[in-house]
Amino acid sequence: MSSSFKFICYHFFIIILHVFAATQILSSSTHNSSFNNFLDSAKNPEVYDWMINIRRKIHENPELGYEEFETSELIRTELDKLSIPYKYPVAITGVIGFIGTGLSPFVALRADMDALSMQEMVEWEHRSKVPGKMHACGHDAHVTMLLGAAKILKQHEKEIQGTIVLVFQPAEEGGGGAKKILDAGALENVTAIFGLHIVPDLPIGEVSSRSGPILAGSGFFEAKISGKGGHAAIPQQSIDPILAASGAIISLQHLVSREADPLDSQVVTIAKIQGGSAFNVIPDHVTIGGTFRAFSKESFNQLRQRIEEVIIGQAAVHRCNATVDFLHGVKPFYPPTVNNADLHEHFVNVAVNMLGIDKVDSVMTPYMGSEDFSFYQEVIPGYFFMLGVKNASHKRFESLLHSPYLEINEDGLPYGAALHASLAASYLLKHQRDTVPGVERKYHDEL
Ligand SMILES: *[C@@H]1O[C@H](CO)[C@@H](O)[C@H](O)[C@H]1NC(C)=O
Ligand SMILES: *[C@@H]1O[C@H](CO)[C@@H](O)[C@H](O)[C@H]1NC(C)=O
Ligand SMILES: *[C@@H]1O[C@H](CO)[C@@H](O)[C@H](O)[C@H]1NC(C)=O
Ligand SMILES: *[C@@H]1O[C@H](CO)[C@@H](O)[C@H](O)[C@H]1NC(C)=O
Ligand SMILES: [Zn+2]
Ligand SMILES: [Zn+2]
Repeated sequence: MSSSFKFICYHFFIIILHVFAATQILSSSTHNSSFNNFLDSAKNPEVYDWMINIRRKIHENPELGYEEFETSELIRTELDKLSIPYKYPVAITGVIGFIGTGLSPFVALRADMDALSMQEMVEWEHRSKVPGKMHACGHDAHVTMLLGAAKILKQHEKEIQGTIVLVFQPAEEGGGGAKKILDAGALENVTAIFGLHIVPDLPIGEVSSRSGPILAGSGFFEAKISGKGGHAAIPQQSIDPILAASGAIISLQHLVSREADPLDSQVVTIAKIQGGSAFNVIPDHVTIGGTFRAFSKESFNQLRQRIEEVIIGQAAVHRCNATVDFLHGVKPFYPPTVNNADLHEHFVNVAVNMLGIDKVDSVMTPYMGSEDFSFYQEVIPGYFFMLGVKNASHKRFESLLHSPYLEINEDGLPYGAALHASLAASYLLKHQRDTVPGVERKYHDEL
């Protein structure tokens, strides 16, 4: 089976080369067949079963940010088996693989590896074996799909016109692993980067994204409001930090409702409040904490400044002192995720050709969640999209990201692998053609 299968794939790939060399970037759904071989390859049991097995192994052994040691080892073992060279360690547990000529152009594909601190509540054979940790954001699937893409692309390495850089990144969930990958210099010379996120409420085989801002920038803060504790029945002898914290929380709500442009979406949420432990004692201090979100750096910085002013000002109104900590060391600010317009066009062409025009939502409503993929986009043109892994039998709200009940329909894995592979391979073809004169003729000769 495998030799005739390879033969067919090879021919399909030559057709892709030809189509890309000889035409403008495809802008309609008429050239459908040329991309389907990647999806067929990914659905082939040789790749599909292998991916399912990998995803379940990673799912059973979730590891938190910068602790993805066994996940990283599993990735390296699979890359070794595929004879794909890689750099390790990059950013503690990160792995950077290379497929292609080793020469420019370079295009990167990114998968995040970390899990969340939460207890899985799904009863199934491959549930998390680590109490209190779970792959509840689908990063197990992201790693698997990138390995799937690597396996497919490796079969076509001779036809790749440049280098595909596989980025297995640690610590997306708050740790800013993307920033560490960049700081390590691992993506020098890369001219485009693609990433995806699974979404459990989008059907299998469907994708959605948009040009421009797609996810918000996000920051966290924690404030300590200090007063003077005392007997709850004799308030005049105390300085009450609970009242001061209440004033601050109420005033913080006015930042979005009164100070922000109603057409510029922003969020300020106080998600944490701690203070006091008795019914009849005014405590010495109260801590409050939360998150803020915005789609532009200006709005984000404005919120940051006003959160600090409002908390300190409201504390002063109530004769308290306050300090506000934006937790830079532990939880770096994530910039807004902003998709490059040219890469959007490229994505839509690839996705429409592979999936059909009705499966591609190219004007997705932006979402207030955030992603550290945005760090890449600050220095490299980048593109991030959503991939459906919906289980049709699930009711709405049953299975959500960051929910202990998250379940992924594994039939979505081949779509992620094939889209990764196709986005990268066709990007290189397009850019090779842009930069090297006479390349068109070369493809004709090969045919
Ligand atoms: C980027 O390209 C320069 C010049 O060709 C080279 O010296 C450098 O090693 C490359 N960096 C990486 C990370 O490949
Ligand atoms: C606030 O800080 C000032 C200056 O350090 C200090 O004198 C005052 O006692 C503090 N007030 C409270 C309620 O902690
Ligand atoms: C592309 O091909 C697939 C599978 O052959 C088919 O399901 C899909 O409808 C086609 N899309 C278009 C736009 O023709
Ligand atoms: C869909 O969910 C049901 C119930 O949780 C489960 O039995 C089934 O295996 C799931 N199907 C897929 C394809 O994941
Ligand atoms: Zn997440
Ligand atoms: Zn995630």
